[in-house]
Amino acid sequence: MSDSAIGIFDSGLGGLTAAKELVRVLPHENVIYFGDTARVPYGNKSRSTIIRYAQQDAYFLLSRGVKMIIAACGTVSSVAAGLKDELPVPFTGVVIPTANAAVKATKNGRIGVIGTSATVNSGSYKKEILRQRKELTVFQQDCPLFVSLVENSFISEKDDIVKLVVERYLAPLKAQGIDTLILGCTHFPIISKAISEYLGDGVTLIDSGRETALYAAKILKEKGLLNKSDKQGTCRYYVSDTVEDFRKTAEIFLNRSVGDEVSHINLEQAMVR
Ligand code: DGL
Repeated sequence: MSDSAIGIFDSGLGGLTAAKELVRVLPHENVIYFGDTARVPYGNKSRSTIIRYAQQDAYFLLSRGVKMIIAACGTVSSVAAGLKDELPVPFTGVVIPTANAAVKATKNGRIGVIGTSATVNSGSYKKEILRQRKELTVFQQDCPLFVSLVENSFISEKDDIVKLVVERYLAPLKAQGIDTLILGCTHFPIISKAISEYLGDGVTLIDSGRETALYAAKILKEKGLLNKSDKQGTCRYYVSDTVEDFRKTAEIFLNRSVGDEVSHINLEQAMVR
């Protein structure tokens, strides 16, 4: 069991922010990543659709024999958290670890949360932050276009389109004087340089992918599920649409070639549920 892979899924590229950190902290682990690129974005879909997609993604990873599943997706974590109760392996989403980190980071008690529309409408991060410390003030903003920018490789902080969209969405949060911002969609850390340049050094960015990877590593350790091998682990990436676009942006973000590691999968044919 301990040498089985860790399964990570997202609607697209966003979950790579968790995968990258997981490989950094647990280099001996094998990772299987699924990006549902044929159906991205999830963040503007209905609750029932998001739950159905999340179940299919998780059961696909289970069919690959994974020992843990990480929903590296703020939308799924916010809307389909109940998945935890139906899976036979440990599961985590991104909301709890990310909210924990934000609560620790804030000094002035004013936290911003950005995510997809489904995430912001669910109020998931806000509820978790206030559950932990009710005196904090939370400001939310949905930023759906960020997902499209990332999926279409508009990720440079020098790109005028990226700068414009960042300013349009984040101006209201900047005006509120937040000192901490939750990047509550795992796609957003991929454009964190542009976000940080706009908000300035006084605002700490909390990367949901990174925090979730650290949390997952802790769970695996506690459960005695860490891989005992001292060999470098392997990564396999599956996407439900064409591999080329995923490969291109993944390589920029991961800063390495992922050539043969990416395969297309037809989720309907592969479905075990
Ligand atoms: N990366 C996702 C999230 O964290 C999903 C974005 C989307 O598909 O809309 O919410």
